[in-house]
Amino acid sequence: MRPPLRRALVTASSRGLGFATAQALSAQGMELLLCARDGMALAEAVAQLRAAAPGRRIEGLVCDLTEAACIERLQEAALALWSAPPQVLVCNAGGPAPGGFEAVDDAAWRTGFELTFLSTARLLRHFGAAMCEAGEGRVVTITSSTVARPMSGLTVSNALRPAVAALVRELAPQWAPRGVTINNVAPGFTATARVEQLLADAAGRAGVSVAEARAGRLAAIPAGRMGEPAEVAAAVAYFCSEAAGYVTGQTLVVDGGASLA
Ligand SMILES: NC(=O)c1ccc[n+]([C@@H]2O[C@H](COP(=O)([O-])OP(=O)(O)OC[C@H]3O[C@@H](n4cnc5c(N)ncnc54)[C@H](OP(=O)(O)O)[C@@H]3O)[C@@H](O)[C@H]2O)c1
Repeated sequence: MRPPLRRALVTASSRGLGFATAQALSAQGMELLLCARDGMALAEAVAQLRAAAPGRRIEGLVCDLTEAACIERLQEAALALWSAPPQVLVCNAGGPAPGGFEAVDDAAWRTGFELTFLSTARLLRHFGAAMCEAGEGRVVTITSSTVARPMSGLTVSNALRPAVAALVRELAPQWAPRGVTINNVAPGFTATARVEQLLADAAGRAGVSVAEARAGRLAAIPAGRMGEPAEVAAAVAYFCSEAAGYVTGQTLVVDGGASLA
């Protein structure tokens, strides 16, 4: 029997869903490489994770996922940390800017594409190849419930998240014979800084207060509440676990039923 997977790279992980995922994987005993742009927040996240798992190898790299050099630096950081590539890759990034179709100009499409799709494709190309060569690995992308149902005012997400989910489905049967699974977690409305940004934007566009915008969003969620980051992270951690070895190419929507309502 192979030893359990231990080396996990979680991108965009100084707060929110990425950080919650790092916590969940740490609870499974994994060593971690994190990244984000703000070095101070990243250092705090690393310190918090180390305090919860003394002696565990946990490092952070300051980089911007929209830059190709970030992925190269992550490869170098992984080698410096483990002398080997990661066995678990969670592709997360910041969310694309909100806005309806008329508000999205060429520059906004390009920026959204680089953040939402290209950063993921680069991570998959570089780290997926190493995992396939090693003959084992778990990959999870974090996208959005917009893969299941478009959301008003999130045009870039509505258009580009499904492209990531499609890539996951394409790669799953190619990588399965080489021991690598790849799945997608699609969160709905979850309590993070990103959601506060989206609520402020929605309130501004609708000319209502943030509280009214929040109440409107909550009313559309059958579960009647926002999700917690740990609930999304638990879905990611499942796909990364030994137990999920026979599950690949799937999207798990974690949205309190909102995309079905
Ligand atoms: N929360 C939700 O309700 C929800 C729902 C659906 C989908 N999502 C998606 O899930 C993802 C995570 O959302 P979240 O709510 O956790 O967001 P968040 O609380 O804003 O956290 C985003 C994290 O990503 C990092 N980051 C952002 N841009 C980056 C970049 N270019 N390079 C490297 N790191 C970057 C941030 O750190 P720095 O700013 O320091 O770089 C931070 O650590 C986003 O794509 C979001 O759209 C969230």
